[in-house]
Amino acid sequence: MVGAGYAWNAFDSRDDLVSALGQGVIRALNAALAERETAVFAVSGGSTPRPLFELLSNTPLPWERVHIALVDERWVDPGQPGSNEDFIVSTLVRNHAANAHFVGMKTQDASPLEAVRRVNDAYARLPGPFDAVLLGLGADGHTASWFPHAQGLDVALDPQGRSHVAAIRAHPSDITGPHLDRLTVTFPAVVAARTVVMMITGDEKRAALEAAAGPGELADMPVRALLRHDMAPLDVYWAA
Ligand code: 6PG
Repeated sequence: MVGAGYAWNAFDSRDDLVSALGQGVIRALNAALAERETAVFAVSGGSTPRPLFELLSNTPLPWERVHIALVDERWVDPGQPGSNEDFIVSTLVRNHAANAHFVGMKTQDASPLEAVRRVNDAYARLPGPFDAVLLGLGADGHTASWFPHAQGLDVALDPQGRSHVAAIRAHPSDITGPHLDRLTVTFPAVVAARTVVMMITGDEKRAALEAAAGPGELADMPVRALLRHDMAPLDVYWAA
């Protein structure tokens, strides 16, 4: 079923979701590696993707030819609570995927804003647009770190923007927790990708996506930027 700007793939269980999505990601990476020397897989943090990353890490692939880049990062060092780098390295960049090239976002700069140029240069050195992007969704309608009405959201979502990454300062909410300062990939970087998939579970996020697919301000639910873009539909994988 294709909704407003997304393709809806619902599964009877989270295990079935993970299995199908894992096969989809592996297909996308293998297709990329059949055409080019290296592939780029951009991954979100949070918590939902854990079982998917564990499955992928145990899947044989020429991972040494794959760059794994963060979709976004809270401004905390690895080893500190909330680090997406820690989450990805501990769940995905291990086992068969241990030889993948991880590209993080956290630098020693005091703030994401001061790190934008440096991290953008690193992302610009990646071999081409993302071959696959894994996005999550918050109940507030954010994806990546495009939080509602956040400082820097206009830069992050600028369709004419030339940067791969942008600095965000979110308004505090139950969803942001203490992590208000973040670095995120931009809208142009996501829509340039060959494959964009979203992994969501539970009724609250399903309702959030359906609300985002309806009328309303883009800044109220920033995932709308993707739902309203004429890119190849966002492939949404969902289970209760
Ligand atoms: C982050 C993520 C973020 C995430 C959503 C959903 O840094 O938190 O990159 O965009 O995908 O917030 O997070 P959960 O999977 O934890 O619900």
